[in-house]
Amino acid sequence: MDGQETREKINRRNFLHSAAAAGAGLAFSRSPSAQGNCGKKTDDINVALLGAGSQGHVLLNACRRIPGIRFKAVCDIWTAFNQKRVSRMLKAYHHEHNTYTDYREMLDREKDLDAVIVATPDFWHSPHTVACLEAGLHVYCETAMSNTIEGAWKMVKAARRTGKLLQIGCQRRSNPRYLYCYDKLLKGRKVLGRIAAVLGQWNRVVGGPMGWPRNASLDRATLERYGYESMAQFRNWRWYRGLGGGPVVDLGSHQIDVFNWFLGANPSSVMASGNTSHLDKKTHQWYDTVMAVYEYETDQGPVSAYYQILSSNRDGGYFEKFMGDRGTLEVSEVANRAMVFPELINPGNKVWARCVKEGCLVGPDEMMKMIEELTVEQVARLFFVAESLPIPQIHNVRNPVKGTIWPANRRVLTLPVEMNKPYHQPHLENFFDAIRGRAQLNCPAEVGYETAVAVLKVNEAVAAARKLSFEPEDFKV
Ligand SMILES: NC(=O)c1ccc[n+]([C@@H]2O[C@H](COP(=O)([O-])OP(=O)(O)OC[C@H]3O[C@@H](n4cnc5c(N)ncnc54)[C@H](O)[C@@H]3O)[C@@H](O)[C@H]2O)c1
Repeated sequence: MDGQETREKINRRNFLHSAAAAGAGLAFSRSPSAQGNCGKKTDDINVALLGAGSQGHVLLNACRRIPGIRFKAVCDIWTAFNQKRVSRMLKAYHHEHNTYTDYREMLDREKDLDAVIVATPDFWHSPHTVACLEAGLHVYCETAMSNTIEGAWKMVKAARRTGKLLQIGCQRRSNPRYLYCYDKLLKGRKVLGRIAAVLGQWNRVVGGPMGWPRNASLDRATLERYGYESMAQFRNWRWYRGLGGGPVVDLGSHQIDVFNWFLGANPSSVMASGNTSHLDKKTHQWYDTVMAVYEYETDQGPVSAYYQILSSNRDGGYFEKFMGDRGTLEVSEVANRAMVFPELINPGNKVWARCVKEGCLVGPDEMMKMIEELTVEQVARLFFVAESLPIPQIHNVRNPVKGTIWPANRRVLTLPVEMNKPYHQPHLENFFDAIRGRAQLNCPAEVGYETAVAVLKVNEAVAAARKLSFEPEDFKV
């Protein structure tokens, strides 16, 4: 490496590292001067993937679509299978990289990394993330943030101590449709009215334990070194106490995160019931069925939020629903599953009459205008209005996309390309943009921590069989 090249590398690293401080909110600015010399070279970000299983593979695929991302290393203990598969894929896409089984060795040897994507099992998130941050690297860590509060707490502390960026993988926070719903329907707008209740569920069918090709088994010593008792446990870690948190943590981390985000509050209590009724308790230590009720104190008043996990029935799939006294929003990561149901359209409606009388709501004309604006200008390609909608006018709304009359019961299937990216891409883009000093993280360590505290308490509440309270300090590090 000649002197010129060395200087270029040092400058690029310095730029990316000082950009981190900007991204972390210390000196955030959108002005070009704050972004340094943003030529193509300085925009490049060298990344390592730590954990190349199913989600590592998904994230890598999403990263391939983001300009300037170069994979330099892959670390995974399952060399004969996952590591090999991902490494082969990277080679095919011309990412020159090294492979490792131990993260310490990777951090020791790779001197030109900027960031690490951590997609290992939950109980490894904290040690992996802390080590990467301490090595001076930015980290994108998958949800669940950690399987313990202590683990998550250490991650927040390490991010603060090192000044590096830590994005937690609650990817709905960067999903354009969720951002849209938050900005236009919830935040400061009165479209849904006062939120009275929230519902969320992830109903699915889970088969038996995951297997593995017998000729690719890890030897006992390797399994033990990395905390697994057996190959079966290694493959099904999310169902084991001490390794994962079961489905309510796995899936709830995303949806309960949306509860907190959209309500602008952390819960004040939770009670929950859970059992393992569908799967074998010997191989599935965590509950396969969970029903939890959170209470929130929001600036609009108290809100009850129900969350459900089923592993034996997929009825209704997965979504989050915010029910206000003027309307309901149902939103899901599934692209075409977003709906708004106006509530107070009928002037004969008692609540409507009361609200109009008390002057706390807009009048019917303004309400219609709002709904039409929502539908025509913004929501047409994102939402469909349910058949049950009690206002005939809405049936005649013109669909600006196709220039046709939009019947109330029609699903609009075409989404704008920018709304239709792979689920994880916008969140990764946000992370890389923050490294470049052009954005603030949508789910920094502190926000991820609040979600972890809220979610991990559900398993505790099931065991305690009573309502558990949160104190505001519980959410702070
Ligand atoms: N954001 C989302 O929507 C989403 C979706 C799925 C999974 N996830 C999360 O991604 C993470 C990974 O889940 P997955 O489904 O890919 O699991 P997985 O078991 O398929 O993959 C985990 C990988 O990590 C490797 N690994 C295990 N311990 C390791 C260690 N100590 N060092 C290096 N490599 C190690 C394994 O060999 C495996 O390849 C989990 O935290 C999970 O909750 C998030």
